[in-house]
Amino acid sequence: MVWSPGKQLNRGRYRIERELGRGGNSITYLAKNKQDEAFAIKTLNDEFINSEILPSSEFNRWQEIFIQEAFKLAKCSHPHIVRVEEIFPEDGVWCIVMEYIAGTNLASYVQQQTLLEQEALQYIQQIGNALITVHNNGFLHRKIGPENILLRHNQSEGKAVLIDFSLARPFDQDLTETRSGEIADGFTPMELYSHTGKRGPYTDIYALGATLYLLLTGETPPNAQDRYLNDISLQPPQEINPQISDRVNDAIILAMALEPEHRPQSIKEWFELMKLPVTTEETSKTKKASRSSISVIDQMIVLASGGAFVGGLIAQFYGAVIGAVFGAIFAVLYKKNRSHN
Ligand SMILES: Nc1ncnc2c1ncn2[C@@H]1O[C@H](COP(=O)(O)OP(=O)(O)OP(=O)(O)O)[C@@H](O)[C@H]1O
Ligand SMILES: [Mg+2]
Repeated sequence: MVWSPGKQLNRGRYRIERELGRGGNSITYLAKNKQDEAFAIKTLNDEFINSEILPSSEFNRWQEIFIQEAFKLAKCSHPHIVRVEEIFPEDGVWCIVMEYIAGTNLASYVQQQTLLEQEALQYIQQIGNALITVHNNGFLHRKIGPENILLRHNQSEGKAVLIDFSLARPFDQDLTETRSGEIADGFTPMELYSHTGKRGPYTDIYALGATLYLLLTGETPPNAQDRYLNDISLQPPQEINPQISDRVNDAIILAMALEPEHRPQSIKEWFELMKLPVTTEETSKTKKASRSSISVIDQMIVLASGGAFVGGLIAQFYGAVIGAVFGAIFAVLYKKNRSHN
């Protein structure tokens, strides 16, 4: 099932305009509400929905994994992390509604031009500060890369925005449930090639360092597994672009060390090497955003508090168990979010 333009969702509240992107597990659409405001709506892709070989229990499990992206986004509220608006079921699948970021992604942007250090560091600083929020919430993003960083056209709202929390997990959780999309050539650190590799903030730091390498050189760095197996050393970015400062050159090489223990262990430590400021305090904008995610969680609770109702509503597809599971997750999230605010 792929929805066509004009398809109405959530009892006419949204109308599909077009497809924005398709990954290993999901499809993301541009949709508009009745006031003509744009949203991004993400749902599991048709490979899951049409699968005749996937038992319904497996499908339910994938739905649960999929919908967790919304909870993680709601928890990690930050001006440089995409905002989640609400979730709802449609045609038997859950949909995640997010703010629509009109703009381009860093991968397309860097194809037009290699960036000056100052501009590249501005985006890295914004995304690094967003990652501090993710890490402080106990998650790793695990999919940092130029395709998952969007640049808003409207600069007054700040520029770089982190999206795609589909692989975000608590630090020590194994990824055996991941179907695809785990390995991103050039940006994925060694420890994500194995299910047992130890992970920490340094896992996302490798990927952000590799993203900075691309922004400043125009070249995707070699993949970590090839570097490891074939003993390929990383060409210093300054050799490709002599305008890169010594400080930033060294910080990229450190962030991209194959061994996690040789990398900076926190974004703050890495930023200090580059003399980049860390924003740990919530800005007034973050506070606003975090109020909005409370209301998102409130909406989720409204959905879940009628656990039986929701379960009954969607029973034909995934049963009341999901209602109960969601109820528990919503309650935990809600409690935590309230205690933070
Ligand atoms: N909030 C948004 N605003 C604008 N465009 C978006 C938004 N979210 C996603 N997109 C577009 O949709 C594409 C796919 O979204 P996303 O990166 O979340 O999933 P994915 O890469 O398809 O991965 P997966 O299936 O593994 O979750 C993005 O690359 C981007 O172009
Ligand atoms: Mg993506």
